[in-house]
Amino acid sequence: MEFGNNVVVTVGHKAKSEHFALAREMAEKLGAPFSERGNTSLDALRAIYGVPFVMVVKEKLVVDTPDGELYFHPGMAHLRLKNLRRGENDHLLRSLGISEGMRILDCTLGMGADAIVESFGAGTEGEVVALEKNPVVAALIAHGLQTSEGEHPATVAAMRRVRVVCTDYLDYLRAQAEDSFDAVYFDPMFRHPFTESAGIHPLRFLADPRPVSEEAISEARRVARSRVVLKESSKSGEFARLGFTEFEGGKYSNVRYGIMRFD
Ligand SMILES: C[S@@+](CC[C@H](N)C(=O)[O-])C[C@H]1O[C@@H](n2cnc3c(N)ncnc32)[C@H](O)[C@@H]1O
Repeated sequence: MEFGNNVVVTVGHKAKSEHFALAREMAEKLGAPFSERGNTSLDALRAIYGVPFVMVVKEKLVVDTPDGELYFHPGMAHLRLKNLRRGENDHLLRSLGISEGMRILDCTLGMGADAIVESFGAGTEGEVVALEKNPVVAALIAHGLQTSEGEHPATVAAMRRVRVVCTDYLDYLRAQAEDSFDAVYFDPMFRHPFTESAGIHPLRFLADPRPVSEEAISEARRVARSRVVLKESSKSGEFARLGFTEFEGGKYSNVRYGIMRFD
C-alpha cells in the first residue's frame, strides 16, 4: 500500500503566517506537494494533484477525506482518564498489566486514544512508543499529541510523553532486542467493523487494514517481557487464529482484549 503520494498539503482560507509555516513543514515531512490554496476548493485541489486526501492547516490540523475530516481529538481518552482518576478500572490498562515506570509498545497508534491512556498508566517514569504505518495519520496525531490542550494537566502531560514512530510494526519489532518492552499492544482495524464509529470513521480510508500476522505475534512475544495484548471484536476468530486464550473486557461490550502473559 502506497501512502506517500496520495495527499496534498495546504492552508485554510484566511490563513495566518504560522499556518503556512506548518503546512510547508508537513509537506516536507510527508514528501507531499504544498499548495498556497488561494481561492481553490479542496475538491479542485484533489483533482489538480490527483490525490484523495488534503491536509489542511487552519486553527486545527485536519485531513480532509472522502468521508469527512480526520483530526486529533483527545475526547475519548479524557473520559477514560477521568474514570481512572476516580479509581475506576480501564480494561486496556488491566490487560497490559501497566504500572508506573513501564515501557509499552503500542503497535497501532491510530487516533492515539489508547496510547494516551497507556502513557497515563505508565506515568512520568514510564515510556510509550506508538507506531503508525500511515505517514499522514502519524504526522497528524503526533502533532495533536504535542500541541493539543486538554481539560486536565495530567492528560496533557500523558499526551506529550507518547513517542510516535512512523513505521510498520513488523519491521520495528524485528529490530528490537528480546524483552525490551514490558508489554506490546495491537489494535488492528477490525476484520468486521461493527460499531457505528468504526463504520463511518474517516480513519478507515487511511488506515492499514491488514490482519496481524503470526510472525508479528511471535516477534511481539520475543520483544515483550511480560504481555502481548490484542484488541478485537468479541466474536472475532482472530484470537483463536493467533493463539490467545485469556481475555479481558466488559461483559456486554463488543470489544475484547486477548492476553498472552509471561509474568
Ligand atoms: C484501529 S486503529 C488503532 C486505534 C488506536 N488504538 C486508538 O486508540 O485510536 C489501527 C491503526 O493501526 C495502523 N496499522 C495497521 N497496521 C499497521 C502496521 N503493520 N504497522 C503500523 N501501524 C499499523 C492503522 O493504519 C491504523 O491507524
